[in-house]
Amino acid sequence: MDKKTILENLINISIQMNSEYSINKLLETIMEKAREITNADAGSLYLKEKNNLKFLVTQNDTLNNQNTAFNVIIPVDKKSIAGYVAYTGEHLNIKDAYNISSDYPFVYNTDFDEKNNYRCISMLVVPMKDNTGNIIGVIQLINAKNKNGNTIDFNETIEPIINSFASMAAMAVKNVQLKDTIKKAYLDTIYRLSIAAEFKDLDTGLHIKRMSVYSQILAEEMGKGDEFCEKILYASPLHDVGKIGIPDRILLKPAKLDADEWIVMKQHTIMGYEILKDSEHELMNISSTIALSHHERFDGNGYPHGITGNDIPIEGRIVALADVFDALSSKRPYKKPWPIEKILTVIREERGKQFDEKVIDAFNKGLKRILETRDKLEDEF
Ligand code: C2E
Ligand code: SIN
Ligand code: SIN
Ligand code: FE
Repeated sequence: MDKKTILENLINISIQMNSEYSINKLLETIMEKAREITNADAGSLYLKEKNNLKFLVTQNDTLNNQNTAFNVIIPVDKKSIAGYVAYTGEHLNIKDAYNISSDYPFVYNTDFDEKNNYRCISMLVVPMKDNTGNIIGVIQLINAKNKNGNTIDFNETIEPIINSFASMAAMAVKNVQLKDTIKKAYLDTIYRLSIAAEFKDLDTGLHIKRMSVYSQILAEEMGKGDEFCEKILYASPLHDVGKIGIPDRILLKPAKLDADEWIVMKQHTIMGYEILKDSEHELMNISSTIALSHHERFDGNGYPHGITGNDIPIEGRIVALADVFDALSSKRPYKKPWPIEKILTVIREERGKQFDEKVIDAFNKGLKRILETRDKLEDEF
């Protein structure tokens, strides 16, 4: 690659890396791009955890990308190649892994080669340093190839480029890790607040978790994009937050509601919407939409507005089913849990009536996953 191509490549890679929000996909992308820049046959990526390196990605064209060495932990010390790079922060450009100068404190570990009948010759191993100089991981590139597919040394001129690349990658990884932490804290807060609003102290609140995961599964089974599926997971827990405004004598009544009580109860959709609306954050706006629309019915007989079909926002149609499935599966102040056969019959009978056909299809496709989630997040009575 000439310099201009390399520069353009680096810029494109940077953009691509910073738009990845799944850590596993990001690490795969980093590995692919590092191999592309250096024309490497294979490579591995390690991230640092405390004083160890965790082996997370391996790619190998010759072995067809077989991952054979996971769950490997290497101490950050001078006794291994990756450990040395993580320990010293120096990169290594090795001509032949089987003939490493005895000036170095490490030798090449041939376990992988022996298991896979592979021969590692040239290696370029670089630290992933973040903006403060912290080493967060190591990229190990193996067997540079020339045009004819023969293994050659890694060219020295590529060293500064792959070092810059590894620093960009380190920043991208830190960004995703930070976002993950914030997202987890956000979800935790939302779950706790929604439980407080809806169930007082009567319930373990796993309902909120279950229905949000069901909503995500339904969205996935409908073929929605990753971003949409993640948004519905985060936005759906607040669907019933308006119940905070419902008096306990109604909310916790251990019997059927009378007509007047029912009028009050139906207000939880509008109250939820009022609490959540007009945010500058998209996620909160989706939450407000869901709060308002999750009791609309596909046939127009729902509340609060009695809107029909695709006029009901897609998120509301999805959450409607997730919510009912979980309400029927669970104990409520006014009802016992239903057996699964009865739930499935009732839900499927409502295809095109209470529920969107497309959502029912997704439910049928995702039923196994939904039941697994239910078992995993079962209430402890
Ligand atoms: P929820 O308990 O979370 O129930 C959510 C939805 O699941 C209900 O929305 C309904 O569509 C479905 N669902 C729950 N239980 C049954 C059932 O036994 N049979 C059928 N066919 N569907 C069921 P819905 O009806 O709009 O109710 C909204 C909320 O109003 C409920 O949320 C609950 O908090 C309250 N609610 C509804 N009915 C009663 C009741 O008879 N007594 C009391 N105390 N609260 C009720
Ligand atoms: C997305 O946000 O990923 C696309 C939304 C959709 O799939 O409908
Ligand atoms: C969608 O499925 O994402 C949009 C179409 C609809 O509202 O049903
Ligand atoms: Fe509700």
